Amino acid sequence: MRATEIVLPGVGEPDVLQVRVRDLPAPTAGQALVRVEASGVSFAEQQMRRDGYLGRPAFPFVPGHDLVGVVEALGAEASADDRLQVGRQVAALTRTGAWADRVLLDAADLVPLPDGVEPAEAETLVADGVTAWRLLHRAAKVRRGQVIVVLGANGGVGSTLVQLARHAGIQVIGTASARHHDAVRRLGAVPIDHRDDVLAKVLELAPEGVAAVFDHVGGPGIVDSWRMLARGGSLVCYGTAATSDAPGDPRLPVLRLLARLTVWNLLPNGRLAMFFDLWAGKGRRPERYRAELREDLGQVFAMLAKGEITAQVAATFPLAEAADALRHAESGDITGKVVLVP
Ligand SMILES: NC(=O)c1ccc[n+]([C@@H]2O[C@H](COP(=O)([O-])OP(=O)(O)OC[C@H]3O[C@@H](n4cnc5c(N)ncnc54)[C@H](OP(=O)(O)O)[C@@H]3O)[C@@H](O)[C@H]2O)c1
Repeated sequence: MRATEIVLPGVGEPDVLQVRVRDLPAPTAGQALVRVEASGVSFAEQQMRRDGYLGRPAFPFVPGHDLVGVVEALGAEASADDRLQVGRQVAALTRTGAWADRVLLDAADLVPLPDGVEPAEAETLVADGVTAWRLLHRAAKVRRGQVIVVLGANGGVGSTLVQLARHAGIQVIGTASARHHDAVRRLGAVPIDHRDDVLAKVLELAPEGVAAVFDHVGGPGIVDSWRMLARGGSLVCYGTAATSDAPGDPRLPVLRLLARLTVWNLLPNGRLAMFFDLWAGKGRRPERYRAELREDLGQVFAMLAKGEITAQVAATFPLAEAADALRHAESGDITGKVVLVP
């Protein structure tokens, strides 16, 4: 079976991406061959091409954080799993490798989709949906009626997080550039320009402070995120976008942030600070990781199928135009997620 893949050969502008065609072997025991219907362009790939992503594989490699596709063939053992027949539509979190038209994956990592879901729409909710769900319900455990702040409310994770929170009866203040404010309002959040004094604006809207702040920006602004919290509130950090272009070892900004969060947690101030990692536990306890992924993604897909949340597809591009897709994702002009459609 032939597969067309997009290869990132090294650090560089999106133009460095190459198209490669290669033969894939038949799936072996426990594997599934998946025909990819849609894969996502995430902030992770932007960081990988700039060498700012922790845990990037050695160059060259095929990027692609997540996908939706159809099972084309199953190796021995995999076909014993009743959830997975040939022809079944599935989703997978891959971290890398999804920018291809066919992939070989461990069948146990696949999550079945509900019937009647459009592939590009479902795709926007794989990595971003499960991240948003866990930030809200597993990390911060926010309750109905509380107020939260979502930084980057127009982004892939942010736009999903806003919708999940609104559906759970939570009030949302969302930061975004002014050009995205109408979109953020339509999602159900009160927008604030991230170039303004965000701390002052949040405290005008929520004088007692907020129940949680979801911060993927890091950098010096993290102090303001901490100051926005009410007593009992949680700061959930999940990225360091502010320092992603900083020269040097990409681990340093993360280590600095972790040290700061640890110190804040040690202070007797009735607030919590944590760093969320979508991949935590995958290597150490894979069975539990898979079960939680099926559970969390299942909740998000069910909400999509019922129309309780709306997929934010910013644009779709053919797989071979991955460089244009990456440029578009980096343009700062989009709400939601750019999707590659082989
Ligand atoms: N820890 C984890 O496990 C995990 C999992 C998934 C994602 N993430 C992280 O989550 C973040 C969002 O991912 P995504 O795929 O949703 O990205 P995305 O769709 O590209 O959205 C990024 C959002 O952040 C805003 N933004 C970017 N740089 C900023 C800055 N310096 N200051 C303020 N706002 C800024 C953007 O605003 P504009 O559009 O106005 O520029 C946009 O709203 C990334 O940092 C990613 O690495 C972490």
